[in-house]
Formats: sequence, structure tokens, C-alpha cells
Amino acid sequence: MDKNFWIERWKKKEIGFHLNDYHDFLKKHGEIYFKDVSNVFIPLCGKSKDILWFYHFGKTVVGIELSDIACREFFLENHLQYNKSEYKNFQIYHTLDKKIYFINGDFFELNKDVLNFINITIQAVYDRASLIALPFDLRKQYVKHMFRMLNNKIKYFLITMEFEPIEKTQKEVGPPFSVTENEIKNLFEGYCTIKKIEERSIERKNAINSKEILYFMEKI
Ligand SMILES: C[S@@+](CC[C@H](N)C(=O)[O-])C[C@H]1O[C@@H](n2cnc3c(N)ncnc32)[C@H](O)[C@@H]1O
Repeated sequence: MDKNFWIERWKKKEIGFHLNDYHDFLKKHGEIYFKDVSNVFIPLCGKSKDILWFYHFGKTVVGIELSDIACREFFLENHLQYNKSEYKNFQIYHTLDKKIYFINGDFFELNKDVLNFINITIQAVYDRASLIALPFDLRKQYVKHMFRMLNNKIKYFLITMEFEPIEKTQKEVGPPFSVTENEIKNLFEGYCTIKKIEERSIERKNAINSKEILYFMEKI
């Protein structure tokens, strides 16, 4: 899946993944799981409202997003003033109080230098519709890259999806892609402890047995 796929989706406003409220799992479990955390990283963040949930709880949030449309719309729609700076291939937007950073660029090019530039040590990851936005091979690269970059103690709040496509094909169906518990184990086991917290049934077009699942993981 190339970057243009997502750039085009934002241009055409095909952003059915975007929620106009905080995610239910975040509302229900966030206060407990992010209690001792000050700095949260949100990979592939879109213009997610969840960023504001963290902001309202006094956390510093760093998101990374390919689309500059998403970055600008986030600040505009939420009536937040921002400043902008540049570091290598990245445009960095931040609120005037420096509590929300939007890094505009490719997650796979992000490294510690960029996080050092904004002077933030990430303590937790919030991943909703991010891992599952990527096809199988990229998911492996994504997790590897994540833990290469964040090599300190990390809490990881992960929301995934599982479903069975009605029409069976050889190719993976998505995005969002169905990511099984077994794959989560294979992807994360070498880095973290993994705990399944909750699952719930959801509706997904052209699929059955669709569910959304919350995992909480910790790298010590
Ligand atoms: C399914 S959306 C989820 C957005 C957000 N997490 C949410 O809950 O609304 C995936 C997002 O990842 C962004 N994206 C995809 N590949 C990316 C990459 N390599 N680097 C940064 N962002 C990327 C897309 O532009 C899109 O906004």
C-alpha cells in the first residue's frame, strides 16, 4: 500500500474511519491505563478526536500523520492555534502551549532525532486503527520500527479489528485489515507483555463476525 493511497483518501474526503467523538474504549479504560503517563505517541493519527481526550487530561501528545490536510483540519476544526517548524522531511505543527505536536510525514522515516528535536520522551502509545490500517508485511515493519524508535519503558494501548470477509479471496481484505490475536502475539511477544482487555461486536460491510478488540501491552 503506497503513501498516495492515503494522501488521495484525504483529498477526496474518504475518511470513514474518522470518529466525531472519543473512542469508547478510551473513554472507558483510558483514565486507568494512562494514569501515570505524561507523554503519549499516536502513530498514523489522522485528525483523531482522541488527541483531545489526552490533551484535556493534561498529557502531551505527539501524533504522526502523512496527510497535511489531516494536520491542518485538526487544528482548524478544534479551534486550536498552532505554530509550525521544519525538521528534515517533517513539518511539525504544535499548539502554542506545546502540548500537542503533529508531525506531518512518514511514520517509517520517523526516528529518535525528531523526538529529540521536540524534546519529548514517549511513555505510551495509543494505537487505534493504525496497525490495522497496514497490510501484513507493513504491520511487521511497523512494530519493528516502533520499538526500535521507542526503546525505553512503554505502555501500549492497542485497538484492533477482526472479521471474516463474506467473499473469500487470496488477498487480504482492507483497510482496515483483520488482525488475529495470534498475529498480535507474533508481532508483539518479543517486545511486551500482552493482555486482552475487552472485545465487542461491530458492524463491518461485507464481513461477518466482526469485532473490535482492546489490548494493553507493556514493555518493561
Ligand atoms: C485508518 S486511518 C486512522 C486514523 C486515526 N488513528 C483515527 O483513529 O482516526 C490511518 C491513518 O494513517 C495515515 N497513514 C497511513 N500511512 C502512514 C504513514 N506511513 N505515516 C504516517 N501516517 C500514515 C493515513 O493518512 C490515515 O490518516
